[in-house]
Amino acid sequence: MKTKWQMLTILTATLGALTLVGCMEVSKRPQKKGQISIKPFGQTKEGVAVDLYTLSNNKGAEVGVCNYGGLVVFLKVPDRNGRPGDVVLGYEALADYIKDSPYFGALIGRYGNRIAKGKFTLDGKECTLAVNNGPNALHGGLKGFDKVVWEPRLLASLEGPSVELRYVSKDREEGYPGNLAVAAVYTLTEDNALRIDYTAITDKATVVNLTHHSYFNLAGKGDILNHQVMLPADKFTPVDNTLIPTGELRPVDGTPFDFRTLTTIGARIGQEDEQLKFGNGYDHNWVINKPMGQLGLMARVSEPTSGRVMEVWSTEPGLQFYSGNFLDGTLKGKGGWVYQFRNGFCMEPQHYPDSPNQPNFPSVVLKPGRVYRNTIIYKFSVQK
Ligand code: BGC
Repeated sequence: MKTKWQMLTILTATLGALTLVGCMEVSKRPQKKGQISIKPFGQTKEGVAVDLYTLSNNKGAEVGVCNYGGLVVFLKVPDRNGRPGDVVLGYEALADYIKDSPYFGALIGRYGNRIAKGKFTLDGKECTLAVNNGPNALHGGLKGFDKVVWEPRLLASLEGPSVELRYVSKDREEGYPGNLAVAAVYTLTEDNALRIDYTAITDKATVVNLTHHSYFNLAGKGDILNHQVMLPADKFTPVDNTLIPTGELRPVDGTPFDFRTLTTIGARIGQEDEQLKFGNGYDHNWVINKPMGQLGLMARVSEPTSGRVMEVWSTEPGLQFYSGNFLDGTLKGKGGWVYQFRNGFCMEPQHYPDSPNQPNFPSVVLKPGRVYRNTIIYKFSVQK
């Protein structure tokens, strides 16, 4: 019988080997594409120092990743005139992220979005989670993956500069069963894409649903209502008034949830509609039209004044599109920008909310001996 500590060592070593496929530690191979610079980003309340890793490419893009919460602190990409601008909301200082953040730029886990009443049954055993959102568990609980310190390692992948973050979530952390070793590799490619590759392994059956929670604003200011969105999804998962899916996969046809052709976020968001009322706008999961596990387009967003275009690609089956409905002018972010209602939107590729309690949704169960994998890509370009 192995001790828990031996188990964790084996889990992290295995994960290390997995994420190194296609990548090498920077010290072992000179980097050809882009650069990485590191600077201190502050200390946690417990006094742990964390850093900001800036990945830059040769096409004018730059992303700042912090090993607290796996945060994307800034993401600068060119507009149609070649001027780089930050397209994500967030803060300048770590202390502000720790004090009060609606998951700005965060790595979300162990379970992205809600689990009804913080309970589910796995292999006949009931699991009780930390409840932190009305009656439900949201984004991993009181201290989710967005609030922990990750172990960083610089990598040079074939595609561009990368930083890998690793964390071992202990058995019963926030109520979840099993020691879960997680790695997330952030890469900035030469075609202006931020790519995040997640892997995880466990020593007991558990549920996993990792995602990324940047709030985007492609204009870098104002509300997001004039952004145009296309979601290749014929169905979405309607919710109850606590934002838990009812289990139905409802056709988007004839509803304000039909984004199969490019439509502005603001065009129908104010319509009289029960689902929009429950979410106070868009805060729903779209069922993306693509085969399970296959990397495919999840969303295309364009912003007419800057000319910026963002494509979201992922291997995940669902996309949570959240239109920043809980931003209310109480948080002051980077450059003194006070974040008002709908000043940013999230595009979170993931499995559907509350999957552990919904037998007809794709499974989120991870068993020992299997590897959880998820790739999310945010790719930026411009149009005239
Ligand atoms: C959820 C929202 C939630 C937000 C966090 C989104 O992923 O769908 O309901 O309020 O995250 O602030």
